[in-house]
Amino acid sequence: MGGRSGFFSGGLHGKDDQRGGSPELGAPPLSHQDRPLGGRRITKKGKTMIEAIVERRSIRSFTPDPVEDPAVDRILTLGTWAPSGLNNQPWKFMVVRDPALKGRLAEQTRYSRVILGAPVCIAVFLDNAQSYDRVKDIQAVGACIQNMLLAIHEMGLGAVWLGEILKNRAAVEAVLEVPETCELMAVIALGHPAEKKRPGSRKPLADCLLGRK
Ligand SMILES: Cc1cc2nc3c(=O)[nH]c(=O)nc-3n(C[C@H](O)[C@H](O)[C@H](O)COP(=O)(O)O)c2cc1C
Repeated sequence: MGGRSGFFSGGLHGKDDQRGGSPELGAPPLSHQDRPLGGRRITKKGKTMIEAIVERRSIRSFTPDPVEDPAVDRILTLGTWAPSGLNNQPWKFMVVRDPALKGRLAEQTRYSRVILGAPVCIAVFLDNAQSYDRVKDIQAVGACIQNMLLAIHEMGLGAVWLGEILKNRAAVEAVLEVPETCELMAVIALGHPAEKKRPGSRKPLADCLLGRK
């Protein structure tokens, strides 16, 4: 299983990295008219996007610092730039900050500590009213979630994709009082990281590649 990718042997931030702090946190949310290329500079080689893909790690401990609505809206908007079949955009979101409500979500998962410790949770749903092909729609929601995780990483925040809570999907949907058409796909726990990023590990490509024909 899983040797280190060894993708980057140097530091995490090369000299092309123009980021100083997290200016995006104070930036207004992107509208659908904007092109979400703001923030960290993407070099001609696309280096920084590749760095983000490899550097992103699941974060499960957070500081008490808040994540304000403009930052959350920016993350959600970047999520919605994911591809979807027929561009049907079948995702819906519920942003949860209320401690009592987070407490009720936490009861539905063994990752309760993560939910209780996160200043914000984003519950992500497939809206079956928008669905045209179940597999493709679930894939689109997954792409949306990954977009959000990468945006969160880019903004200097941290998050984890929580799937274990899906075992109590119906209870979560009831607690959050979402429309009947909305089916829970994941909860993203989000905040300012209180843990050091681990290097991460992945199976060698040879274990994934069936062949070249
Ligand atoms: C579909 C899915 C479900 C996941 N569910 C959980 C979860 O319930 N709890 C958790 O702590 N991490 C969960 N994760 C995060 C994975 O454990 C994590 O992505 C994986 O170990 C690789 O680590 P990395 O994200 O730091 O690269 C989930 C990830 C995915 C994609």
